[in-house]
Amino acid sequence: MRYSFALLFAVFSFAAAQTRSSKRGLVFVPNPSNPEDDTIWVQSGSDLTWYYNYQSTPSPAFDGVSQDRFEFVPMLWGAIDDTSFLESVRTQIDSGREIKHVLGFNEPDSQYSGGSNVEPSKAADVWIKNIAPLAEKGVKLGLPACTGSWGGLSWLEQFLGNCSELISTEDDKKNCTYDFVALHWYGNFEGLASHMGSYAAAFPNVTQWITEYNFDNQDLSATQAFYNTSSEYFDRMDSVSRYSLFGSFRSEDSNVGPNAVMLNNAGQLTDIGSWYLGMSGTNIDPQSGAGAGGPRAIVPGAMVLTMAVSMYFVLSSWVLL
Ligand SMILES: *[C@@H]1O[C@H](CO)[C@@H](O)[C@H](O)[C@H]1NC(C)=O
Ligand SMILES: *[C@@H]1O[C@H](CO)[C@@H](O)[C@H](O)[C@H]1NC(C)=O
Ligand SMILES: *[C@@H]1O[C@H](CO)[C@@H](O)[C@H](O)[C@H]1NC(C)=O
Ligand SMILES: *[C@@H]1O[C@H](CO)[C@@H](O)[C@H](O)[C@H]1NC(C)=O
Repeated sequence: MRYSFALLFAVFSFAAAQTRSSKRGLVFVPNPSNPEDDTIWVQSGSDLTWYYNYQSTPSPAFDGVSQDRFEFVPMLWGAIDDTSFLESVRTQIDSGREIKHVLGFNEPDSQYSGGSNVEPSKAADVWIKNIAPLAEKGVKLGLPACTGSWGGLSWLEQFLGNCSELISTEDDKKNCTYDFVALHWYGNFEGLASHMGSYAAAFPNVTQWITEYNFDNQDLSATQAFYNTSSEYFDRMDSVSRYSLFGSFRSEDSNVGPNAVMLNNAGQLTDIGSWYLGMSGTNIDPQSGAGAGGPRAIVPGAMVLTMAVSMYFVLSSWVLL
Protein backbone atom coordinates (compact mmCIF):
# COMPACT_ATOMS: atom_id res chain seq x y z
CA MET A 1 0.00 0.00 0.00
CA ARG A 2 2.70 2.43 1.06
CA TYR A 3 4.70 1.27 -1.93
CA SER A 4 1.93 1.98 -4.43
CA PHE A 5 1.29 5.36 -2.85
CA ALA A 6 4.93 6.30 -3.31
CA LEU A 7 4.84 5.02 -6.87
CA LEU A 8 1.73 7.05 -7.59
CA PHE A 9 3.41 10.11 -6.17
CA ALA A 10 6.50 9.53 -8.28
CA VAL A 11 4.44 9.08 -11.44
CA PHE A 12 2.42 12.16 -10.61
CA SER A 13 5.40 14.43 -10.02
CA PHE A 14 7.00 13.18 -13.24
CA ALA A 15 3.78 13.89 -15.15
CA ALA A 16 3.54 17.37 -13.66
CA ALA A 17 7.11 18.24 -14.63
CA GLN A 18 7.06 16.89 -18.18
CA THR A 19 3.39 17.35 -19.22
CA ARG A 20 3.00 13.80 -20.43
CA SER A 21 -0.20 12.62 -22.08
CA SER A 22 -1.50 9.26 -23.21
CA LYS A 23 -3.63 11.01 -25.84
CA ARG A 24 -0.66 11.85 -28.05
CA GLY A 25 0.09 10.03 -31.24
CA LEU A 26 2.27 10.30 -34.32
CA VAL A 27 1.20 11.35 -37.79
CA PHE A 28 4.00 9.43 -39.43
CA VAL A 29 5.48 11.36 -42.36
CA PRO A 30 8.77 9.60 -43.04
CA ASN A 31 11.52 10.89 -45.28
CA PRO A 32 13.07 7.84 -46.96
CA SER A 33 16.46 9.59 -47.14
CA ASN A 34 16.59 9.86 -43.33
CA PRO A 35 15.42 6.48 -42.05
CA GLU A 36 17.36 7.07 -38.82
CA ASP A 37 14.70 9.67 -37.90
CA ASP A 38 12.06 6.92 -37.60
CA THR A 39 13.41 5.55 -34.33
CA ILE A 40 13.14 8.94 -32.61
CA TRP A 41 9.37 8.57 -32.11
CA VAL A 42 9.58 5.25 -30.30
CA GLN A 43 12.68 5.89 -28.20
CA SER A 44 12.54 4.92 -24.57
CA GLY A 45 10.55 7.49 -22.59
CA SER A 46 8.50 8.64 -25.60
CA ASP A 47 4.94 9.55 -24.75
CA LEU A 48 3.47 8.55 -28.07
CA THR A 49 0.98 5.70 -27.72
CA TRP A 50 -0.41 5.39 -31.24
CA TYR A 51 0.23 6.35 -34.84
CA TYR A 52 -1.22 6.52 -38.30
CA ASN A 53 0.51 6.74 -41.66
CA TYR A 54 -2.42 7.49 -44.05
CA GLN A 55 -2.41 3.81 -45.06
CA SER A 56 -4.15 0.57 -44.18
CA THR A 57 -1.03 -1.31 -43.12
CA PRO A 58 1.59 -0.55 -40.46
CA SER A 59 4.95 1.03 -41.30
CA PRO A 60 7.82 -1.49 -41.42
CA ALA A 61 9.89 1.08 -39.47
CA PHE A 62 7.90 0.10 -36.35
CA ASP A 63 7.90 -3.68 -36.87
CA GLY A 64 9.87 -4.18 -33.67
CA VAL A 65 7.55 -2.08 -31.50
CA SER A 66 4.61 -3.81 -29.84
CA GLN A 67 1.07 -2.81 -30.73
CA ASP A 68 0.32 -2.49 -27.00
CA ARG A 69 2.86 0.25 -26.65
CA PHE A 70 2.33 1.96 -30.01
CA GLU A 71 -1.07 1.23 -31.49
CA PHE A 72 -1.31 1.33 -35.27
CA VAL A 73 -4.51 2.96 -36.58
CA PRO A 74 -5.29 2.11 -40.23
CA MET A 75 -6.69 4.83 -42.47
CA LEU A 76 -8.64 4.63 -45.71
CA TRP A 77 -7.08 7.71 -47.32
CA GLY A 78 -9.43 8.21 -50.29
CA ALA A 79 -12.01 6.57 -52.53
CA ILE A 80 -11.42 3.02 -53.78
CA ASP A 81 -13.52 0.87 -56.08
CA ASP A 82 -13.15 -2.43 -54.27
CA THR A 83 -13.11 -3.76 -50.71
CA SER A 84 -9.34 -3.95 -50.39
CA PHE A 85 -9.27 -1.77 -47.25
CA LEU A 86 -11.76 -4.00 -45.45
CA GLU A 87 -9.85 -7.11 -46.51
CA SER A 88 -6.53 -5.64 -45.41
CA VAL A 89 -7.79 -4.74 -41.94
CA ARG A 90 -9.60 -8.07 -41.54
CA THR A 91 -6.44 -9.95 -42.51
CA GLN A 92 -4.44 -8.01 -39.93
CA ILE A 93 -7.02 -8.78 -37.23
CA ASP A 94 -7.15 -12.45 -38.21
CA SER A 95 -3.38 -12.68 -38.05
CA GLY A 96 -3.42 -11.45 -34.47
CA ARG A 97 -2.88 -7.70 -34.67
CA GLU A 98 -5.21 -5.86 -32.36
CA ILE A 99 -6.86 -3.16 -34.46
CA LYS A 100 -8.98 -1.03 -32.14
CA HIS A 101 -9.69 2.01 -34.32
CA VAL A 102 -9.78 3.02 -37.99
CA LEU A 103 -9.75 6.46 -39.57
CA GLY A 104 -11.96 7.51 -42.50
CA PHE A 105 -10.91 9.57 -45.50
CA ASN A 106 -8.21 12.25 -45.36
CA GLU A 107 -9.56 15.72 -46.20
CA PRO A 108 -12.16 14.45 -48.69
CA ASP A 109 -13.50 18.02 -48.90
CA SER A 110 -10.28 19.23 -50.52
CA GLN A 111 -8.52 18.69 -53.79
CA TYR A 112 -5.47 20.62 -52.59
CA SER A 113 -2.28 19.63 -50.74
CA GLY A 114 -3.01 16.10 -49.70
CA GLY A 115 -6.80 16.28 -49.83
CA SER A 116 -8.46 13.14 -51.18
CA ASN A 117 -11.26 15.07 -52.93
CA VAL A 118 -14.15 12.59 -52.70
CA GLU A 119 -17.83 13.35 -53.37
CA PRO A 120 -19.93 12.70 -50.23
CA SER A 121 -22.12 10.18 -52.07
CA LYS A 122 -19.12 8.21 -53.36
CA ALA A 123 -17.51 8.36 -49.92
CA ALA A 124 -20.70 6.99 -48.34
CA ASP A 125 -20.67 4.03 -50.70
CA VAL A 126 -16.99 3.31 -49.98
CA TRP A 127 -17.61 3.68 -46.23
CA ILE A 128 -20.44 1.15 -46.28
CA LYS A 129 -18.34 -1.38 -48.18
CA ASN A 130 -15.03 -0.93 -46.40
CA ILE A 131 -15.41 0.69 -42.99
CA ALA A 132 -18.87 0.01 -41.58
CA PRO A 133 -18.44 -3.81 -41.52
CA LEU A 134 -15.44 -3.43 -39.19
CA ALA A 135 -17.78 -2.43 -36.34
CA GLU A 136 -18.76 -6.12 -36.12
CA LYS A 137 -15.13 -6.86 -35.24
CA GLY A 138 -15.30 -4.37 -32.37
CA VAL A 139 -13.27 -1.74 -34.25
CA LYS A 140 -14.16 1.89 -33.40
CA LEU A 141 -14.86 3.97 -36.50
CA GLY A 142 -13.65 7.54 -37.05
CA LEU A 143 -15.60 9.81 -39.40
CA PRO A 144 -13.67 11.26 -42.35
CA ALA A 145 -11.29 14.06 -41.30
CA CYS A 146 -12.24 17.18 -43.24
CA THR A 147 -10.10 20.30 -43.55
CA GLY A 148 -10.50 23.16 -41.10
CA SER A 149 -12.42 25.21 -43.67
CA TRP A 150 -16.11 25.92 -43.13
CA GLY A 151 -17.10 23.51 -45.92
CA GLY A 152 -15.95 20.52 -43.86
CA LEU A 153 -19.03 20.21 -41.69
CA SER A 154 -21.38 20.50 -44.65
CA TRP A 155 -19.41 17.77 -46.45
CA LEU A 156 -19.94 15.54 -43.41
CA GLU A 157 -23.65 16.33 -43.25
CA GLN A 158 -24.08 15.35 -46.88
CA PHE A 159 -21.96 12.25 -46.37
CA LEU A 160 -24.09 11.10 -43.43
CA GLY A 161 -27.28 11.92 -45.35
CA ASN A 162 -26.08 9.93 -48.35
CA CYS A 163 -24.93 7.11 -46.11
CA SER A 164 -28.35 6.75 -44.48
CA GLU A 165 -30.08 6.88 -47.86
CA LEU A 166 -27.94 3.99 -49.03
CA ILE A 167 -28.70 1.72 -46.09
CA SER A 168 -32.35 2.72 -45.45
CA THR A 169 -35.53 1.49 -47.07
CA GLU A 170 -38.91 3.22 -47.11
CA ASP A 171 -40.04 1.41 -43.93
CA ASP A 172 -36.71 0.94 -42.28
CA LYS A 173 -34.83 4.19 -41.74
CA LYS A 174 -31.28 3.77 -40.51
CA ASN A 175 -28.23 5.94 -39.95
CA CYS A 176 -24.65 4.99 -40.55
CA THR A 177 -22.89 4.69 -37.23
CA TYR A 178 -19.50 5.91 -36.07
CA ASP A 179 -17.65 6.25 -32.79
CA PHE A 180 -15.64 9.44 -33.02
CA VAL A 181 -15.05 12.48 -35.23
CA ALA A 182 -11.63 13.43 -36.58
CA LEU A 183 -10.72 17.00 -37.35
CA HIS A 184 -7.84 19.03 -38.73
CA TRP A 185 -6.79 22.57 -37.93
CA TYR A 186 -4.11 24.96 -39.21
CA GLY A 187 -4.25 28.38 -37.60
CA ASN A 188 -4.23 30.07 -34.22
CA PHE A 189 -5.56 28.72 -30.93
CA GLU A 190 -8.76 30.81 -30.90
CA GLY A 191 -9.63 29.39 -34.31
CA LEU A 192 -8.88 25.86 -33.15
CA ALA A 193 -11.07 26.19 -30.06
CA SER A 194 -13.89 27.63 -32.13
CA HIS A 195 -13.55 24.88 -34.74
CA MET A 196 -13.74 22.24 -32.02
CA GLY A 197 -16.82 24.05 -30.70
CA SER A 198 -18.58 23.80 -34.08
CA TYR A 199 -17.88 20.07 -34.16
CA ALA A 200 -19.13 19.69 -30.61
CA ALA A 201 -22.35 21.44 -31.64
CA ALA A 202 -22.78 19.33 -34.80
CA PHE A 203 -21.83 16.09 -33.03
CA PRO A 204 -22.89 16.47 -29.41
CA ASN A 205 -21.22 14.05 -27.04
CA VAL A 206 -19.08 12.51 -29.78
CA THR A 207 -15.42 12.12 -28.88
CA GLN A 208 -12.98 14.18 -30.93
CA TRP A 209 -9.62 13.20 -32.36
CA ILE A 210 -7.51 16.11 -33.63
CA THR A 211 -5.57 14.14 -36.23
CA GLU A 212 -3.64 17.02 -37.85
CA TYR A 213 -3.03 20.45 -36.39
CA ASN A 214 -0.46 23.20 -36.09
CA PHE A 215 -0.08 26.97 -36.25
CA ASP A 216 1.66 26.99 -39.61
CA ASN A 217 4.10 29.55 -41.00
CA GLN A 218 4.63 31.52 -37.77
CA ASP A 219 7.69 32.72 -35.96
CA LEU A 220 9.11 30.35 -33.36
CA SER A 221 7.66 32.00 -30.27
CA ALA A 222 4.11 32.10 -31.68
CA THR A 223 4.46 28.47 -32.80
CA GLN A 224 5.64 27.36 -29.35
CA ALA A 225 2.98 29.37 -27.53
CA PHE A 226 0.34 27.73 -29.73
CA TYR A 227 1.82 24.30 -29.09
CA ASN A 228 1.73 24.82 -25.32
CA THR A 229 -1.80 26.23 -25.21
CA SER A 230 -3.31 23.65 -27.54
CA SER A 231 -1.72 20.60 -25.92
CA GLU A 232 -2.76 21.82 -22.47
CA TYR A 233 -6.31 22.31 -23.82
CA PHE A 234 -6.50 18.85 -25.47
CA ASP A 235 -5.19 17.20 -22.30
CA ARG A 236 -7.79 19.01 -20.19
CA MET A 237 -10.82 18.45 -22.48
CA ASP A 238 -12.66 15.17 -21.80
CA SER A 239 -14.19 15.47 -25.28
CA VAL A 240 -10.73 15.03 -26.85
CA SER A 241 -9.50 11.48 -26.65
CA ARG A 242 -6.52 11.71 -28.99
CA TYR A 243 -4.42 14.21 -30.89
CA SER A 244 -1.53 14.12 -33.31
CA LEU A 245 0.60 17.15 -34.19
CA PHE A 246 1.47 17.48 -37.87
CA GLY A 247 5.19 18.00 -37.77
CA SER A 248 7.15 14.72 -37.52
CA PHE A 249 9.68 15.86 -40.11
CA ARG A 250 12.69 18.10 -40.65
CA SER A 251 12.33 21.82 -41.12
CA GLU A 252 13.44 21.81 -44.75
CA ASP A 253 10.87 19.08 -45.56
CA SER A 254 8.03 21.05 -43.99
CA ASN A 255 4.95 22.20 -45.89
CA VAL A 256 3.61 23.97 -42.78
CA GLY A 257 6.47 26.43 -42.36
CA PRO A 258 10.02 26.03 -41.01
CA ASN A 259 9.17 26.37 -37.29
CA ALA A 260 6.15 24.06 -36.96
CA VAL A 261 8.31 20.93 -36.93
CA MET A 262 9.56 18.36 -34.46
CA LEU A 263 13.01 17.92 -36.05
CA ASN A 264 15.71 20.33 -37.13
CA ASN A 265 17.65 19.76 -40.34
CA ALA A 266 20.05 17.35 -38.65
CA GLY A 267 17.19 15.19 -37.36
CA GLN A 268 17.43 16.40 -33.74
CA LEU A 269 14.30 17.00 -31.68
CA THR A 270 13.28 20.66 -31.48
CA ASP A 271 11.73 21.99 -28.27
CA ILE A 272 8.25 21.21 -29.60
CA GLY A 273 9.34 17.75 -30.73
CA SER A 274 10.80 16.95 -27.35
CA TRP A 275 7.87 18.41 -25.39
CA TYR A 276 5.50 16.41 -27.58
CA LEU A 277 7.34 13.22 -26.66
CA GLY A 278 6.92 14.17 -22.99
CA MET A 279 10.54 15.18 -22.46
CA SER A 280 12.35 18.41 -21.58
CA GLY A 281 13.06 21.14 -24.10
CA THR A 282 16.21 20.81 -26.22
CA ASN A 283 16.73 24.45 -27.11
CA ILE A 284 17.33 23.34 -30.69
CA ASP A 285 16.28 25.83 -33.33
CA PRO A 286 14.10 24.09 -35.95
CA GLN A 287 16.04 25.74 -38.74
CA SER A 288 19.45 24.74 -37.39
CA GLY A 289 21.44 21.73 -38.50
CA ALA A 290 22.37 23.39 -41.76
CA GLY A 291 20.38 23.74 -44.92
CA ALA A 292 21.51 23.13 -48.47
CA GLY A 293 25.22 23.80 -48.92
CA GLY A 294 26.03 23.70 -45.20
CA PRO A 295 27.65 20.96 -43.10
CA ARG A 296 24.58 18.86 -43.87
CA ALA A 297 26.31 17.66 -47.04
CA ILE A 298 29.21 16.43 -44.94
CA VAL A 299 27.35 14.38 -42.33
CA PRO A 300 25.21 12.17 -44.57
CA GLY A 301 28.12 11.92 -47.00
CA ALA A 302 30.35 10.60 -44.23
CA MET A 303 27.64 8.13 -43.25
CA VAL A 304 27.25 6.89 -46.78
CA LEU A 305 31.01 6.44 -46.99
CA THR A 306 31.10 4.50 -43.70
CA MET A 307 28.24 2.33 -44.91
CA ALA A 308 29.93 1.74 -48.25
CA VAL A 309 33.16 0.75 -46.52
CA SER A 310 31.43 -1.67 -44.13
CA MET A 311 29.32 -3.09 -46.94
CA TYR A 312 32.56 -3.67 -48.87
CA PHE A 313 34.01 -5.66 -45.96
CA VAL A 314 30.82 -7.62 -45.39
CA LEU A 315 30.55 -8.45 -49.07
CA SER A 316 34.22 -9.30 -49.52
CA SER A 317 34.27 -11.59 -46.47
CA TRP A 318 31.11 -13.23 -47.77
CA VAL A 319 32.65 -13.73 -51.21
CA LEU A 320 35.84 -15.15 -49.62
CA LEU A 321 33.77 -17.71 -47.70
C1 LIG B 1 -26.19 13.11 -51.38
O1 LIG B 1 -25.12 13.55 -52.18
C2 LIG B 1 -25.48 14.45 -53.19
C3 LIG B 1 -24.22 14.71 -54.00
O2 LIG B 1 -23.09 14.70 -53.21
C4 LIG B 1 -26.09 15.69 -52.60
O3 LIG B 1 -26.45 16.60 -53.59
C5 LIG B 1 -27.28 15.30 -51.75
O4 LIG B 1 -27.83 16.42 -51.13
C6 LIG B 1 -26.91 14.25 -50.74
N1 LIG B 1 -28.06 13.77 -50.04
C7 LIG B 1 -28.25 13.96 -48.74
C8 LIG B 1 -29.46 13.34 -48.16
O5 LIG B 1 -27.48 14.57 -48.05
C1 LIG C 1 -30.66 9.73 -38.14
O1 LIG C 1 -29.94 10.92 -37.89
C2 LIG C 1 -30.70 12.10 -38.00
C3 LIG C 1 -29.76 13.29 -37.88
O2 LIG C 1 -28.96 13.18 -36.75
C4 LIG C 1 -31.80 12.08 -36.95
O3 LIG C 1 -32.61 13.24 -37.07
C5 LIG C 1 -32.65 10.84 -37.15
O4 LIG C 1 -33.61 10.75 -36.11
C6 LIG C 1 -31.80 9.58 -37.17
N1 LIG C 1 -32.63 8.44 -37.57
C7 LIG C 1 -32.58 7.25 -36.99
C8 LIG C 1 -33.48 6.18 -37.56
O5 LIG C 1 -31.84 7.03 -36.03
C1 LIG D 1 -24.64 14.35 -23.65
O1 LIG D 1 -24.22 13.67 -22.48
C2 LIG D 1 -24.77 14.20 -21.32
C3 LIG D 1 -24.13 13.48 -20.13
O2 LIG D 1 -23.93 12.13 -20.38
C4 LIG D 1 -26.29 14.00 -21.36
O3 LIG D 1 -26.87 14.55 -20.19
C5 LIG D 1 -26.84 14.74 -22.59
O4 LIG D 1 -28.22 14.48 -22.73
C6 LIG D 1 -26.13 14.27 -23.83
N1 LIG D 1 -26.56 15.09 -24.96
C7 LIG D 1 -26.87 14.60 -26.14
C8 LIG D 1 -27.32 15.59 -27.17
O5 LIG D 1 -26.84 13.40 -26.40
C1 LIG E 1 6.05 26.21 -23.37
O1 LIG E 1 6.14 25.27 -22.32
C2 LIG E 1 7.48 24.99 -21.90
C3 LIG E 1 7.43 23.93 -20.79
O2 LIG E 1 6.68 22.83 -21.16
C4 LIG E 1 8.14 26.24 -21.41
O3 LIG E 1 9.48 25.95 -21.08
C5 LIG E 1 8.09 27.31 -22.47
O4 LIG E 1 8.60 28.52 -21.97
C6 LIG E 1 6.66 27.54 -22.95
N1 LIG E 1 6.70 28.48 -24.05
C7 LIG E 1 5.73 29.35 -24.31
C8 LIG E 1 5.95 30.28 -25.44
O5 LIG E 1 4.69 29.36 -23.68
